Order: sequence, then C-alpha cells, then structure tokens
Amino acid sequence: MIEVSTSILNVKKGEEADTFFKLEASKTDYFHIDVMDGKFVKNNTYKKMLEYSTYIKRISNLPLDVHLMVKDVKNSIEEFSSVEPNIITFHLEACKSKQEVYEYISLIKENNCRVGIAIKPNTKIEEVYEFLPYIHMCLIMTVEPGKGGQEFLHEMTKKIKQLKQYINENNLEIDIEVDGGINLNTHEEVKKAGANVIVAGTAILMAKDYKVIIDELKKN
Ligand code: DX5
Ligand code: ZN
Repeated sequence: MIEVSTSILNVKKGEEADTFFKLEASKTDYFHIDVMDGKFVKNNTYKKMLEYSTYIKRISNLPLDVHLMVKDVKNSIEEFSSVEPNIITFHLEACKSKQEVYEYISLIKENNCRVGIAIKPNTKIEEVYEFLPYIHMCLIMTVEPGKGGQEFLHEMTKKIKQLKQYINENNLEIDIEVDGGINLNTHEEVKKAGANVIVAGTAILMAKDYKVIIDELKKN
C-alpha cells in the first residue's frame, strides 16, 4: 500500500490553516515536517516547523512524519517528541559514530515514536544496512536536502531497488520513503523500484486540486 506524506515546507504564509485542512480533506496520509537547523543544511526552518507541528496537533489527528535535517540530533529528537509525531527520521550523516546512531534509535523509541534513518544522495545504501533491523523506515533522499522544488535525481532509483532487494532477502519489515522532486512524472519510477512512502511538496501544494495529485501518487 502506497502512502503519501505531504511536505509542508513551502506552505504559503497566511494560508497555513486553510492548506492543512485542505490537505487532510485530500487524504494525505502524513504531514511531512522538514526540520532544518541552518547548520546541517543552509536553511533554517526549525522554529516554523515546531510551530506548524504544534498547530497541526491541535487541529488534526493526522500523523506527523518528522524529517530532521539537523546537526544536534539529540536535542531535536527531544524537542520534536513534544508534538508526539508518528515517526522521527534523522540523517545518518549527522551521526559521529555507530554508537550515536543506536543511541538516537533508542531515544526516539523511548518517546514512543517510530524511527527512520535518512541518507543523502552521496551516501551508499550499504551504510544503513546494519541499523535496519532496529528501525521502521529508511528515507532515501532523491534530492540534496535543504530545500523544496528541486529536480529528482534519477540515479537514486538504483539505490531504492538495492534497498528493496536487501529488505526482501533479509525478511525485514521496513518502509522505504523517498523525498525530493517526486511528482506525476517521477512517482511511478520510485514505486516500481520499491518505495512505499512518497513525500511530495511542490507537486501537491502547487496543484489546484490536492486530491487529484494525492490520489495519483497513491496508485500502486
Ligand atoms: C528537502 C526536503 C523535502 C522537500 C520536498 O530537503 O526534505 O521534503 O521539501 O519538496 P519537493 O517535493 O518540492 O521536492
Ligand atoms: Zn523532507
């Protein structure tokens, strides 16, 4: 079953409430919360994403899919756990050691939250293998993290296939999320490769009718 996680990074100022209601009515499965600290990536959305998450928790029961693009993973896990997300995903590249990766996995679980690990385009998929038995989702970035509206990197499709094959061969139960440049032209390619959670920002928020796009992205 394919799920859609709408990135609210570029929701128009002043139209937030209306947009969140419309997205819920259009049956997005998650709100994708892009947390950027201005250090791991140039942009800083930290405060805005915390505000949006807090607000969404008040008006909607839809789950939050928090994507941490931050250097201080520990502190961000603690801060964003306060909005009781469904899943918190941190970047492997923000971890200084394997021991730190396991520490963050435990910290997220202690907060009754599911765990995701994200990898940037240049990170080899093999680097995440050892952690897979302990997490719920692997996020394969299909653009360089840091902003919305970028072009999909087609060379990432091979990486999705490789991960899907490893998951099948090792009888693991893990979601594969893809994030960046996913739209009506690229969604079939990533689903065929094995992705089952689709993040989209621009493709949905720029559409006249969110539901038309979300329904299309959900098709198997
Ligand atoms: C990029 C973010 C993505 C991005 C998706 O760093 O992690 O979630 O906002 O936006 P689109 O779908 O416009 O590429
Ligand atoms: Zn994201």
